[in-house]
Amino acid sequence: ERIDARGLHVLPGAIDVHVHFREPGFAHKETWTSATQAAAVGGVTTVFDMPNTRPPTASPAAVAEKDALAAKQAIVDYGIYGLIGEDNGDELKAMLDAGASAFKLYMGSENPLAPCPSDGAIVDAFETLAGLGIRCTVHAENTPILKRRGERLRRSGRVDAAAHLEQHADIATVEAVSRSAIFAEWTGCKIHIAHESSRHSLPHIRFAKSRGVDITVETCPHYLFLSTDDSSRLGANFLRVKPPVREPGHAGPLWDALIDGTIDILSTDHAPHLPDEKRRPVIWDCAPGFPGVETSMRLMLTEVNRGRMTLCQYVRMACRAPADAFGLAHKGRLEVGVDADIVLVDLRAEGRIEGALLHSLGNATPYEGFATIGMPVRTMVRGRTVALDGRPVGQPGWGRRVGAPSASA
Ligand code: NCD
Ligand code: ZN
Ligand code: ZN
Repeated sequence: ERIDARGLHVLPGAIDVHVHFREPGFAHKETWTSATQAAAVGGVTTVFDMPNTRPPTASPAAVAEKDALAAKQAIVDYGIYGLIGEDNGDELKAMLDAGASAFKLYMGSENPLAPCPSDGAIVDAFETLAGLGIRCTVHAENTPILKRRGERLRRSGRVDAAAHLEQHADIATVEAVSRSAIFAEWTGCKIHIAHESSRHSLPHIRFAKSRGVDITVETCPHYLFLSTDDSSRLGANFLRVKPPVREPGHAGPLWDALIDGTIDILSTDHAPHLPDEKRRPVIWDCAPGFPGVETSMRLMLTEVNRGRMTLCQYVRMACRAPADAFGLAHKGRLEVGVDADIVLVDLRAEGRIEGALLHSLGNATPYEGFATIGMPVRTMVRGRTVALDGRPVGQPGWGRRVGAPSASA
């Protein structure tokens, strides 16, 4: 295939280490087909899928079940997260053998699909993963603290204060970031902090790194581009995401940390829900999260155009750093011998984000109407074009599972 790339920039495909592609269990929100089409159009060539599906990806059989669904449909490459549970510590190795690429720990989830293990179980799991050399991604949020305080406020009739607490208290995140870093130092486990939302976590992250903890950190576009000020535009409940988008004053330090490398990775936490699940009158009924795989690169290229960062810095956070953190030596860079996961971008292309045009089934985007400059125009996975000019063209089943680092070594 000869491709005319005149006037375009050639980048490695983006690697998104935090997506919720919803199957099995929630195909009404998203399928592997719709999600990987959205990813391909968005310039994403590899994704790592989170385990809070139904059934949760917490056993070798569940890993195999998800892999079968993904293998049939995916047009981009994918990794599968295994879930760290209270009682599945003995199965982690078997889950790797079944195809898990990494593990996910929910440190404070109220979600029955991904309940929070006890501190003892967390330390045990970290010890096992340290032995296996596998990185553990952590949803670092101590939601039981928030829940308890929120219930007290609600019981005393202070419902607004309880809602405010859910949206604003970042102590739950900061506490869990620092606790997981301490557990990582204690056990030697490599960890990856998911969706960093608060500037107050940054000193704890720097401290852990200064002590030699192998800790990587990601943030997501919604913490960089949105704040609680957007609730009037979007509706307070629509803005609901875990962890919450913070008040103004956090995004600036998060940008600085992402550019200076304190935050290593840009992911999306692509968490699609149907529009009516996002627009419920009571905040606790409103589904948390937003779609992200198709809009992230456009938003970030716009910032490159505005001079906030260089294209090389973008490639580092979106391609190279995730490949390095998750042992994908054959991806995330443009070098002879690596997979030809390539995105051609037109840095001049102007556009506007429109939810109705996104390929995700959960296409209600908080960036509706955002003007962008810079667009992926061709996405290639292992040498084959999977998206062209905003349309998915890949063959379902072309996407391949990426192995865990020790499994591929
Ligand atoms: C995620 C989801 O919908 O699965 N939602 C979110 O707000 N981030 C769950 C999660 O990542 O905790
Ligand atoms: Zn999470
Ligand atoms: Zn998530």
